[in-house]
Amino acid sequence: MKIYNDVLATIGNTPLVRLNKITKDLPGTFLAKVETFNPGHSIKDRMALKMVEDAEASGKIKPGGTFIECTSGNTGMGIALAAVVKGYKCIFTTSDKQSKEKIDILKAFGAEVIVCPTNVEADDPRSYYSVARKLSEEIPNSYWFNQYDNLSNTAGHYESTGPEIWKQTEGKITHLIATVGTGGTLSGTGKYLKEQNPDIQVLGVDVFGSVLKSYHETGEFDTSQIYPYITEGVGEDIIPANVNFDIIDYFTQVNDKDGAIMARRLAREEGLLMGYSAGTVLQGVIQMKDRFKEDDVVVIILHDHGSRYVGKIYNDDWMRKNGFLDEYMTTKQLLERRGKQKLISVHENASLDEAIGLIKEHKVSVLPVSSEDGDWAGSLTDRQILEGIAQKGGSSQEVKVKHIMGDPLPIISNSVTCNNIKDYLSEWSNAVLCKDASGEWQIVTNQDIIHYAL
Ligand SMILES: Cc1ncc(COP(=O)(O)O)c(C=O)c1O
Repeated sequence: MKIYNDVLATIGNTPLVRLNKITKDLPGTFLAKVETFNPGHSIKDRMALKMVEDAEASGKIKPGGTFIECTSGNTGMGIALAAVVKGYKCIFTTSDKQSKEKIDILKAFGAEVIVCPTNVEADDPRSYYSVARKLSEEIPNSYWFNQYDNLSNTAGHYESTGPEIWKQTEGKITHLIATVGTGGTLSGTGKYLKEQNPDIQVLGVDVFGSVLKSYHETGEFDTSQIYPYITEGVGEDIIPANVNFDIIDYFTQVNDKDGAIMARRLAREEGLLMGYSAGTVLQGVIQMKDRFKEDDVVVIILHDHGSRYVGKIYNDDWMRKNGFLDEYMTTKQLLERRGKQKLISVHENASLDEAIGLIKEHKVSVLPVSSEDGDWAGSLTDRQILEGIAQKGGSSQEVKVKHIMGDPLPIISNSVTCNNIKDYLSEWSNAVLCKDASGEWQIVTNQDIIHYAL
């Protein structure tokens, strides 16, 4: 019989899955280490079990005691699994930006969860680090794991994630890429792999608002880098002991929006319903594309499962609220879709007759009017032509364009989204002018918006 003695024995041995679409334009082979196959649905099961085993072995926790940890959810899940199997109690502190699903899941294992404010300094007594420390001082036979500075975290990956990847790639791995929070994943896995082959590149993905990338580059703790962000599990406002900056060759930083959009692409294009940081790491891979060559074997760690983010990145309302959905194309995109059109304009000194000829020949409803000095002096619509003839009388050969033209058409930047062009239109102008990507003037009319953007 092939059986596991308990759920903890099923941790590890997760598959490496080839990415076929998102990275198709990049040189090299891109393999996702899909850590959601762990029983707690994240990579953190590995280090959680290692921290528990090390705490037991060193006598820091006695049977029946209480595990305490500050966690964004995944480490808590791993610790909770170990607590259930081994008979410990659990109290977790977490920050209020974590998804409700993660908190409810921890409670499902019988854990107590204390939600702390996100936007306070790490040493503020209200922070989730401080609350966890205080609880561990007050509760007898309790142990605060402190995944940030507890080196069993790195050791867990050194002992399991690293050797697995080395074996699965038959030693062919050239790059290891992971998001960095506590640093355990990248530091432990990277250390093992570099010991096998020092040429392996270990690349970290950080988020904007975190201090890790700048610390790696300057060795200085630059508080100006720190500001609130939405991505979960990645980046820090402290320097955890588990980030081994010597192992990491390079960091890139990803913003909240790009990570969220890429996570959705992973689901739709690769069939991988992963967590927020999986989108972040993939976006980081795209940003680092110049670092790869045709024969490279790039292993990308996907930390956790998308089911924990159904109320967030997989919810359109949440994405919209955060301004992450590009539902409207920009004028630049509209022009690319429509294609370049020769701009039909008329000079201010031209006769009305010439203007009417242009409108008939090119079947346009509005003509921008150019001035002597090359600027836009005004515009001429079919309605202005009719009104002009009525007011001035006489023949259309004698009336000049400048006598009857209206105001110049509004000029917009090509980054304006099509839903916002309406703000520039008025009763008299059903068109705007803007420059296309090559700097040539183009006209965009109501009809263009209806045809190409809706
Ligand atoms: C979803 C997610 N992604 C990435 C990370 C970063 O991993 P590490 O803490 O090993 O650097 C974490 C850590 O909690 C996480 O929960």
